Amino acid sequence: MTRRPVLYVFGSAAPPVREFPDVVRRAQAEGYEVCVGLTPTAARWLGGEVAGLAEATGHPVRSAYKLPGEPDVWPRADAILVAPATFNTLNHWALGLTEHFIVGVVAEGIGKEIPLVTMPCVNSAYVRHPQFGRSLATLREAGVEVLYGPGGFVPHRSGERRADGYPWDVALGAVARVLGGRR
Ligand SMILES: Cc1cc2nc3c(=O)[nH]c(=O)nc-3n(C[C@H](O)[C@H](O)[C@H](O)COP(=O)(O)O)c2cc1C
Repeated sequence: MTRRPVLYVFGSAAPPVREFPDVVRRAQAEGYEVCVGLTPTAARWLGGEVAGLAEATGHPVRSAYKLPGEPDVWPRADAILVAPATFNTLNHWALGLTEHFIVGVVAEGIGKEIPLVTMPCVNSAYVRHPQFGRSLATLREAGVEVLYGPGGFVPHRSGERRADGYPWDVALGAVARVLGGRR
């Protein structure tokens, strides 16, 4: 029996992270074994739903580093999706500031050559900050598939949401594409 590819689905604190229960179901239906990671703020937003995500995936939901000497509780990733990726998380990742567990994993993921896909969720004010473009350029140069701009995430105005919702189909399509040669 061939094993299912392992997909880490990581989310930070932007409103689409509330859709994780449905996104996890969709990823599982597409054949992935899913492990969920969250920033501490995203975990706080999901509250009681975190336990349901652990039950649905069969793996603990992680938002903190393990202690030295503790075993790894997840299988090795075949690919990692970081979505929704906040302005804050993207900048931390690009700058190599690994205080948060999920940022540490994807920062190392570049060096480990794990296929990495991210889709920002940012408003049109954040994107005018000079660091935003630099962070996306840094991540793209490092080989990360960044789904931003036409065909990916297009920023909304501050305080608004896109009428057509967060494009999860684009994110899952990109994961299938980056894994294409490896499945
Ligand atoms: C209701 C609400 C909506 C937010 N939406 C976004 C967003 O779409 N994009 C973003 O970058 N930050 C957004 N933020 C701000 C982030 O939650 C905040 O910067 C947080 O520190 C991000 O932490 P994290 O990247 O560790 O998850 C929002 C905050 C609130 C309270």
